[in-house]
Amino acid sequence: MKKILVLSTGGTIEMLQKSDGLGIGYASAVDISSIKALPETHISIRKYLSLPSPHITPEIMADIANELNKLETSREFDGVVVTHGTDTLEETAFMADIHLEGTLPVVFTAAMRSSSELGVDGPRNIRSAVRVACTETRNLGVTVVLNDEIHAAGRVTKTCTSNISSFESPGYGPLGFVDDDRVIYHRLPIWRMNLPQGPLVLEKRVGLVRIAAGFGHDVIDFLTESGYRGIVVEAFGRGNVHPETADAIERAINSGVLVIITSRCHEGRVLGVYAYPGGGVDLINRGVLSAGDMAGNKIRLFLMACIGGGLEKEQIQNILSSL
Ligand code: SIN
Repeated sequence: MKKILVLSTGGTIEMLQKSDGLGIGYASAVDISSIKALPETHISIRKYLSLPSPHITPEIMADIANELNKLETSREFDGVVVTHGTDTLEETAFMADIHLEGTLPVVFTAAMRSSSELGVDGPRNIRSAVRVACTETRNLGVTVVLNDEIHAAGRVTKTCTSNISSFESPGYGPLGFVDDDRVIYHRLPIWRMNLPQGPLVLEKRVGLVRIAAGFGHDVIDFLTESGYRGIVVEAFGRGNVHPETADAIERAINSGVLVIITSRCHEGRVLGVYAYPGGGVDLINRGVLSAGDMAGNKIRLFLMACIGGGLEKEQIQNILSSL
């Protein structure tokens, strides 16, 4: 008999339609009636929070990750399913993934449709997530299960505002699938980003700047002057910016701000390929760190935890060097 905990945190999966739109708190709890019937599984449900996920801040994400860490250490359950709103699910799942050892199966799930809508997906998603939590034995790290697909927390992203197939891992694809008879894996992640063991402490003053043509340098200067300790820059292509932006990045670095470069592209790594002013080679010479093919929103959380945990630039660079 597998003991599985469903930890609910809010989102559409526990919302109902009222006259003025969908809202949280109208449903008493996540509906787990559809999974009660799973053989050889004992399900407990614990309401941890009940928030729409745009209200879930990095500090709340860290609380959830710390709670999961306690459950990983206590061995009270064989697996945990976290229900969460879809909007920031990828960030909370990633925060948990970089903090946890990975010895306890932790599976995030959600619903794109509320239980007031035709074709509601929540109950099936919970059922599939429980099945993954029961069968996962390969230390895959935190996974995300929606629409019968299993994704790695480090790679998954919400790609569509409305469709139930919204969650994808661009460039990689799902780890596997949940079918009627069994859970099937086709791909195993060979690495996971991990923070050094220890309490999860976050530095709040870490910004994320998405560069657009003619835009970026003044925001970087503003963050530097406002005392930000870290800035993640979502640059063009291979990791390039306008020379004015490169100068703003250099001013930030000279003021002691840690600057990490990612790309606006959905797939592929940043790399020092271009030597022109503002190109990747130039930015590296000015002291930026590169985040390979990681998404900016996730690398920002990583940097918040690194700075909050007192890691030096070289230690952060060492972790990023495997990307
Ligand atoms: C939310 O993220 O709380 C709203 C959207 C959803 O759960 O699908």
